[in-house]
Amino acid sequence: MTYSFDLPVERRGTDSGKWAWYGEDVLPMWVADMDFASPQPIIDALLRRVQHGVFGYGMDSPTLKQTLVDRMAQRYGWTIQPDDIVMLPGLVSGLNIVSRAVGERGDGVLINTPVYGPFLTAPVNQHRTLQSAPLLATHTGRHLHYALNMPGLAAAIAPNTRLFLLCNPHNPVGRAFTRTELTELAAFCEQHDLVICSDEIHCDLLLGGTQHIPIASLAPEVAQRTITLMAPSKTFNIPGLGASFAIIQNPALRKQFEGAMAGIVPHVNILGMVAAEAAYAACDDWLQALQAYLTANRDFAVGYIEEHMPNVVTTVPEATYLLWLDLRATGLGEKPADRLLKEAKLAVNEGSWFGAGGEGFVRLNFGCPRSTLEDGLARIRAAVTAAAH
Ligand SMILES: Cc1ncc(COP(=O)(O)O)c(C=O)c1O
Repeated sequence: MTYSFDLPVERRGTDSGKWAWYGEDVLPMWVADMDFASPQPIIDALLRRVQHGVFGYGMDSPTLKQTLVDRMAQRYGWTIQPDDIVMLPGLVSGLNIVSRAVGERGDGVLINTPVYGPFLTAPVNQHRTLQSAPLLATHTGRHLHYALNMPGLAAAIAPNTRLFLLCNPHNPVGRAFTRTELTELAAFCEQHDLVICSDEIHCDLLLGGTQHIPIASLAPEVAQRTITLMAPSKTFNIPGLGASFAIIQNPALRKQFEGAMAGIVPHVNILGMVAAEAAYAACDDWLQALQAYLTANRDFAVGYIEEHMPNVVTTVPEATYLLWLDLRATGLGEKPADRLLKEAKLAVNEGSWFGAGGEGFVRLNFGCPRSTLEDGLARIRAAVTAAAH
């Protein structure tokens, strides 16, 4: 089966957050959803469900939970039970629930920055104290590589720290952390008795043969202190349908988590549940083709930047469809996304939204047809060239 990722889909006029926020003259490459249609089995399953015509209250689908149990075993050699799964309407909610469930008011939550914005806000929303250390950044030629910063974490931890929020694969720096890195991190969390919340929403968006390792799959004792957050939303481009889940194998921790949700977090809506089930049951081919397309987009973008933008340093992401660009040497100033919006009519995310270490960077979303990517890169090139003169 061939898939037409090259085919642009008109998203204007659909109340898309990504496409409707800025004017018609702006090319949006910011919010992390893709400009591709979802795989046909999801569309067909939704059509069948909509045709039924009755949209009463639903319940967690036992077949979906069994599909997830099988998927964790097949992909990661990770044995979980259906009861370990807690369905959620979204993972920003998940990050807030975890922050609320673990520890007490004022307790510390440890993160590495830069990182997806809600990692910075969820602990504060839930009256916790944010403690952070920068990721370790290394320049190799024109590329930028990040690693977990264990000495930094050791320096940032305090006696009141209860929780570590991990983003793996990492938004925005595109790392899929290795077994060695994760083992070291797990040992650190064990040593300091921290709960680990591992946001693995990007776990299927693997580029160029990268493997994903859920930190909870390392060992049963790691699983006992871990809350894993996953979703089909990024992978199959269904984030607007609001279906995601947590895997919590420690019953006491799961009870705490469910207690923090009680009365506040709604049930996953019935269409989201149908879409999630179809996504995991029938879309493996599509996912493989998507991974190949995104890998080619990544390689094209990295090659283009190397060739045409001598002042720009880029990550070479192992996962996600996000490129993290260091524009500090381009003359576009401290808010380069603002300048790109004004001067190039291109919407990308401002690096400072991702916390310390993000200033002077932007995040570009390459989950789009190649023609859109070419257009976006040409706009950056023109702005960078103009700024140099
Ligand atoms: C790491 C990470 N977690 C969570 C989310 C958002 O999750 P949701 O839309 O389910 O709230 C995103 C979206 O970009 C993300 O990158």
